Amino acid sequence: MINIFQPSLGEAELAAVQEVFRSNWLGRGARTEEFETRFARHLGVGREHVTSTNSCTEATFLAMELAGVGPGDEVVLPAVSFVGAGNAVASTGARPVFCDVDPRTLNVRVTDLERMLTPRTKAVLLLHYGGYPGEIAQIAEVCRDRGILLIEDSACSVASSVDGHACGTFGDMGVWSFDHGKILVTVDGGMFYAKDPEVAAKAAKRLYFGLEQFSGFSQAQRTDARWWDFEVSSFSRRSITNDVLAAIGCVQLDRLPDFLRRRQEIVARYDQDLAGLPGVLLPPALPAGHVSSNYLYWIQIDGGIRDVVAKDLYEHGIYTTFRYPLLHRVEAYGATGARLPDAEHAAEVTLCLPLHQALTDKDLDLTISVLHEAVTSRLAGAMGGHA
Ligand SMILES: Cc1ncc(COP(=O)(O)O)c(C=O)c1O
Repeated sequence: MINIFQPSLGEAELAAVQEVFRSNWLGRGARTEEFETRFARHLGVGREHVTSTNSCTEATFLAMELAGVGPGDEVVLPAVSFVGAGNAVASTGARPVFCDVDPRTLNVRVTDLERMLTPRTKAVLLLHYGGYPGEIAQIAEVCRDRGILLIEDSACSVASSVDGHACGTFGDMGVWSFDHGKILVTVDGGMFYAKDPEVAAKAAKRLYFGLEQFSGFSQAQRTDARWWDFEVSSFSRRSITNDVLAAIGCVQLDRLPDFLRRRQEIVARYDQDLAGLPGVLLPPALPAGHVSSNYLYWIQIDGGIRDVVAKDLYEHGIYTTFRYPLLHRVEAYGATGARLPDAEHAAEVTLCLPLHQALTDKDLDLTISVLHEAVTSRLAGAMGGHA
């Protein structure tokens, strides 16, 4: 099967893990510190703004807690969002308010957002669809002007930026994912960023049961009398990562430029070989100054044939999918039946194609030729059916 996502983990990651095993210090320690320091540098922010977590979902829940979101509040998020984002909002007792998206980029436009803001809007939880930055700079300005907190779900945008400014650092908080399906993989893990270093420090403390004394671990750190005593500052969970996963993260950071280069090549190949295929729209060109991580490559297929084309590809061993199914239709979030026409249209026609750095030219040749064949024959069939 040609996978849609696939991690690239090899000898270098194994060697780094082996070194951690040999050190006999598996928990949060020197490697985690190093990973956080290096990720902060990668984002172009100070070390004091970031802390690692055991997942992006956990970081998103944490962001909601630190934003003080609760019952009576509204949080606006794109209808095309990950389920973990919806859950993070709903778990606080606040109302998730889903907004429409650009039908081509699947990103929230300023106009979509402004329509949904009310005096009860406490925060906006934004996604960079597929790694495309979208109108993040303008949206950050709107939020700032209105005193609304902006949290960026940067799970897709590990290396996306606008005019050199990293996605995830435009707003008040940002969260990243390093799970097994992402570009930079630590198997499971996430990162949390806060513009205000005091918020970042609070986050770090919350990550280990809210222990007042917690500032990471090292074997010889606490020398005060009765170093086993503690105070609790929040009733929080255990959400830290560990040196095994962080060591993998450090190697993946070294390899990230190569991953991004290969992904860019694949995107260029799709752009070139799918251009002009009747019935198929490609992702719009990035505006000047915008850089995408190229996490997703999505096409949009006319004629109501998207699902059968996905099936045809599957039968040829090519896995595709649609990210992210519409949250405003989920009953548990209080679906009202309100229409979000552009998001709904996008959800009917969009298909995400295989995109990962281990994809070979042969995989690409097959995917492109099967796609051409499937779209052409299914479209002819659909048009014949209507005649
Ligand atoms: C956009 C988005 N946000 C958040 C997450 C959650 O990440 P994690 O698996 O690290 O919790 C995902 C995972 O697929 C995602 O795609």
